[in-house]
This record gives sequence, structure tokens and C-alpha cells, in this order.
Amino acid sequence: CGIVGYIGPRQAYPIIITGLKRQEYRGYDSTGIAIMNPHLTVYKKKGKVAELENTLLGENLKSNIGIGHTRWATHGEPSDRNAHPHLSASGKLAMIHNGIIENYAQLKTELLNKGYTFKSDTDTEVLLNFIEEIKTNTQCSLEEAVRIALKRVSGAYVILLLDEENPDTIVAARKGSPLVIGIGKGEHFLGSDATPMLEYTKEVVYVNDYEVAIIKADELILKNLGNERQTPYITKLDMELAAIEKGGYDHFMLKEIFEQPQTIYDCLRGRLDAEKGTITMSGIQKYAEQIMNANRIIMVACGTSWHAGLVAEYIFEELCRINVEVEYASEFRYRNPVINKGDVIIAISQSGETADTLVAIENAKKQGAIILGVVNVVGSSISRVSDGGAYTHAGPEIGVASTKAFTAQLAVLTMIALKIGYEKGTLDKDRYMRLLDELNSVPDKVKVVLEQQERIKALAEKYKDASDALFLGRGYNFPVALEGALKLKEISYIHAEGYPAAEMKHGPIALVDENLPVVFVATKDSYHEKVISNMQEIKARKGKVIAVITEGDEHSTSLADDVIEVPEADEIVAPMLSVIPLQLLSYYVGVAKGYDVDKPRNLAKSVTVE
Ligand code: G6P
Repeated sequence: CGIVGYIGPRQAYPIIITGLKRQEYRGYDSTGIAIMNPHLTVYKKKGKVAELENTLLGENLKSNIGIGHTRWATHGEPSDRNAHPHLSASGKLAMIHNGIIENYAQLKTELLNKGYTFKSDTDTEVLLNFIEEIKTNTQCSLEEAVRIALKRVSGAYVILLLDEENPDTIVAARKGSPLVIGIGKGEHFLGSDATPMLEYTKEVVYVNDYEVAIIKADELILKNLGNERQTPYITKLDMELAAIEKGGYDHFMLKEIFEQPQTIYDCLRGRLDAEKGTITMSGIQKYAEQIMNANRIIMVACGTSWHAGLVAEYIFEELCRINVEVEYASEFRYRNPVINKGDVIIAISQSGETADTLVAIENAKKQGAIILGVVNVVGSSISRVSDGGAYTHAGPEIGVASTKAFTAQLAVLTMIALKIGYEKGTLDKDRYMRLLDELNSVPDKVKVVLEQQERIKALAEKYKDASDALFLGRGYNFPVALEGALKLKEISYIHAEGYPAAEMKHGPIALVDENLPVVFVATKDSYHEKVISNMQEIKARKGKVIAVITEGDEHSTSLADDVIEVPEADEIVAPMLSVIPLQLLSYYVGVAKGYDVDKPRNLAKSVTVE
């Protein structure tokens, strides 16, 4: 979910609506706002932010204080009733919430026994009435009631509250889910990320876990749950408004795909010096000894970031000769994993807020592992929990399906592997220098791949009515096949599976007939001959082969029904090129089918619930 708040001399409503639209990547099942006009008033509705905005045209929405929410449903189906903000039993408190209150059932029973009734199915309304019950019973202030209530709560949350009896204050608190407060002149802005406040201020405070914020127009007080004042740590934002606008593209996803030559370049800039043969990464250098001597590296991530971890497994094992395991964060955190002191964990995350990844590394840290973050969002929770690491510097990624963050993750992970391999001596100087050049030339080669936009669009038209698709690859390109399948599923709702090309014989081959498109990621590498054999196996069963190949590979061209060429590159860096056509293919299939590619159904970009 995304949350926004404003207090100050401006009109709160337009700031909140704009802020919510920028945070819709976090969920868009329903939308709601609460303002003081002059009484506490809530407007909420199932659907995207624009739908609520349309129903409020012509309303008097004047207010200098307000909170807003865009929801990704957890407890309770998406509906007007379950949309946030919720009102307390007395109607005097309004609250929005992002996260999950795990012990809400128990709290609900207590409140039901006291005669409370509930208007929604949400855990949020339970917490809100629990806070109100404490406030009424003990005659304390709202912030005091919030502190007392939160001591009883287990789960993750960020909450914002308005109180009719205290119309010049917003009370907020967080544990697990992000909360950013922008400091203006005589005004404050709140958001799940910094996007709602970009045009107003560059000074922000990232609220820490177990902190309660009492926010007035000209005052910000932070306290811990023990009522002790905390000093707000002000950070300067390094992000411009243009970075979160579409800049002439039809969709954020397309813009982000096309940004990749620049984002990969930005990621390498200042770090990789191919002439001098150096890679400068201070957040890695500090732990270089430990990484070199590690018995194993564990990559922990979800979704597309997990695929980046899989590519990195191949690269690290090849260049650094260190055993690598790649784990889904949600599985890793719950299965009592064996973690030894000195194990190195690399957490990969675009948002830096994915709940499973965050808790997985918190647990591993307690057990003595070294945590390195490969994270895109500066200042995010995962980056703060990590001991060291490197930012991917891809800029804000807004399309829900991840594209430029993936290639930036690969660029960073490849640099780490090159650095460690070379310092360790498992990667000889010649190959190291060659790979630095290879990595340096990736941005220009990505540009060449992007030039095939029209051709890929035509292929999307040709295959858009398929009901299923298979994506196959080997070695470095196997995770790319997984990523290609995930992209197609997310954007076009076509069922797609990614498989190691050889493993396809053990099941998926049963699906092959003349209607099944099979996408091969088959650039020239040490696995190439084997992949060609797999392609022949598909052709022999009349499957339709679409192959991503290296320029001028005539043999593959003669076998495939359709090919998309990418420039020649070392197999270590090839995934950053071979994934691009697959991103474009899913984008154009999604567009051809008329879907909202930036906000595919049911998905959220930043999953802050487990
Ligand atoms: C969600 C997003 C994916 C993303 C995954 C992990 O499922 O829709 O695009 O790959 O979360 O997110 P992270 O921010 O940790 O990379």
C-alpha cells in the first residue's frame, strides 16, 4: 500500500491525490483520503486513484491537513467498505495503514466483548478501535494511546492518524513498512517513499522502526515507544521530479526499458575504470577479505531480483570459485536455515522494502552473517539493515514489472564478482581486463538491441493470442528465460513457464504443439551447441521457435521461426543484453491486448507484507 499525508498552509487534497498517483505502484485496489473540512471527513472507493478523483469533482475539499491511501488488499477483498482510511467507532479518529497486524483476531475478540462492532473486514479497523479504546479509557492523548497500543501489536505497519479533537496534528508510527517525512517551511509531507514531496522539499527524515511521529505544520517530534524523544536525522534527497514522470513515453515500463543504456552506464560510472583496471566500490571493499574467504555466499531476494541472484550465482562461481546459494527470501526466513558466522548474504532488492527480504536479512544478521545489500532505493530499509553493499543507481522504477532495476542489479553483481575474483586470484588479469571492457561496452550494445523495437512489436502482434508460452535457456541465460516468462505473465496474463532448456525434456515438452510459442534465449556462449539441439527437439514437435540469438548466427536463424538478434558479447555480460528483447516482447504483447502494463492486475511493486 502507499500512504501520503500533508499538513501546512497549502491545500492538502491536490498534494495527496498527486502523491497517491505516484505511489500507485505500491497497490491500486482502492483509494481513500481523510481531511478536516472542518469536521473529519473520509472519501474512499474501490479502484484506482483517478476513479476516486472523478467521483469527487465539484466537492468542497478545502483542508490544510489530510491523509491518503492506495491499497493492496491483505485482509478483506478490495471494496469501498474495506478501503482506507477507516473511521473509529466514535467517528472522531481516521487511520490509514500499510502492513499486517498479525494478532488482530485476538484484539478484535477483546473489542467485540466490549461491545464494539466493525464496519469492515480489515485488521486496520481493529487497531484503530483498539487505539480509541485506550484513548477513551485512560483519557490520554492520541500519541500516548498509539504508543500503548503498538506495544501490544505484532506485525508490520505504518499508520497515519487524524483526530477531530486535535485538528492541527497528524500522528504516525512505523515498524517494518517505510515512512518518509518531508520537511518544508512551516509544512510537512508524508509518504511511503519520497515521491509525493519531490517538488516541495529535498529535506527528508526516514522514520525508524518503533518510532512515533507527532507532526504539526511547524513542528516534528519523534519518540520511541518508551516516550523518549528521538532526534530526527535529516537526509538530502537526490532525486528530481523528471525522474518520476513519463517524459513522452506511453508507459513507465517502456520509458524504463529505454533508459537502460543510461542506467547501466550510471551504475558503472565512477566505479569501473577499464583503462586502469580498477573497480571502486567502497561498500564492498570494506568486506572484501570476508567475501574472498567466505565458505559460501547466499543471495536472498524475491521476484525479478531473485532472477538477478541466479545469474550472479553462475558468475560468482565461475569467477570467484565461491559456493553460492540463491534463496527465495520467504522460504529462507522460515525454514531455520543453517547460517554460520562469516557467511556472506547478498540481499538483492529494487525497492529495499520487500518484507520477506528485509526480515530474512535481519534474522541472518542476528546469527552473525555479513549482510551486503544490492538495492536501488537509497535510504530504504534493506539498505539500512545491510552492513555494506552497493546501490544500483537505476533511478526510480515506477512500472510494476521490473526492467531497468534488473539490468542494474546484474551490472552491480558482475562488478562485485570481478573485483572479488581478481583480488582473490581466481580470475586472471587478462580475462579480468577483457571483462572490464566487455562490461563497459554493455550500455552501447543495449542501444543496438533497443533499435529493434518495431520488429519486436510485430512479433508481439503475431504471438499475442497464444494461451501459453515456454521460455528456455541454459547457463547464464537460464535465469533470463525465467525472467522472460515472469515478464510475460505479469504484463499480458499469458501463462508462461521458464525452464532450463535441457530440463524441458522432463515434462514441459509434453505441451509442445504447433500452437505453442517457445522462446529460446540462445546467444553464443559455451552452452550454445547444446541449446541448438534443444531447439531441434522443439522443431521436431512442430513448436514455434522464437530465438534471441547473437548477430549473424545463421544456424540458429535457419532453425527458428523468428529471431531477434543481439550484439556479440562475453557470456558473463550477455544476460544484460538478452533480457532486453524479452522485456520489449512482453510490453508489446500487454499493450496489444489492451492491458494496463504499468499496473497489472493484482500485483504491487513493493510488497511490504509477507
Ligand atoms: C514485487 C514486484 C517485482 C519485484 C519483487 C521484488 O513482486 O512486482 O517486480 O521483483 O516484488 O521486489 P524488490 O523491490 O525486493 O526487488
